[in-house]
Amino acid sequence: MKIIEVKNYHALSMLAAKIIIDEVREKPNLVIGFATGKTPLKLYKNLVGAYRKGEVDFSGIKTFNLDEYYPIKQNEYKKSYRSYMSKRFFSDVNIPKENIHLLDGNSKDIAKSCKDYENQIRKNPIDLQILGIGINGHIGFNEPGSKKDSKTRVVKLSPSTIKRNKVSYTKALTMGISTIMKSKKIILLASGKSKAEVIERMIKGKESEKLPASFLKNHKDITVIVDKKAGSLI
Ligand code: F6R
Repeated sequence: MKIIEVKNYHALSMLAAKIIIDEVREKPNLVIGFATGKTPLKLYKNLVGAYRKGEVDFSGIKTFNLDEYYPIKQNEYKKSYRSYMSKRFFSDVNIPKENIHLLDGNSKDIAKSCKDYENQIRKNPIDLQILGIGINGHIGFNEPGSKKDSKTRVVKLSPSTIKRNKVSYTKALTMGISTIMKSKKIILLASGKSKAEVIERMIKGKESEKLPASFLKNHKDITVIVDKKAGSLI
């Protein structure tokens, strides 16, 4: 596990964007796994900025998003991750629609949708997975108690996640721990004081279902990028 500490959120977002841009330049058909939430907001801004300046071309990449609320409610569509990704990133860059993969929070056959998603990832292995981390140690929506061999599935959100994300959704779809672990390279981003304790537990503690992010310790190419506040206890 490589750990990089940068000064602040601005520097973290710059570095994450640079890593993605360099990888896309090196491999124009890169398969990228994307996360949502507050942490990558500036990363997406930076990627859009670089695209507008002609510094990067996304036309050959494929994307898979980590998670989605389920079932999507009409009145809360704006809080869906499909809406987030479209607004913050996809509508501003040149990724072909057919190369974008999102979990379907409207699916009528959820077991089949999750299986199909897992198969799509198997056929298009993720080269670079971007992750955030929940204060309870979740990655994607793999909440505490998630198994190491878990795959894409429906999960119950923990009360702390529902509160922190300010949603009324109680369930979600997420790539599993084993799905995430198959990514060739992982970049986990953490910013701010609220993430300091979980980063400490992930790095210093032992692997445990109680802290799903701890499974990442066994990944062979993971870089954790923290800013000073998130890295203050390590
Ligand atoms: C979102 C996701 C979540 C978030 C985590 C941190 O797609 O996978 O695991 O990364 O909840 O969220 P923020 O960045 O809002 O603190």
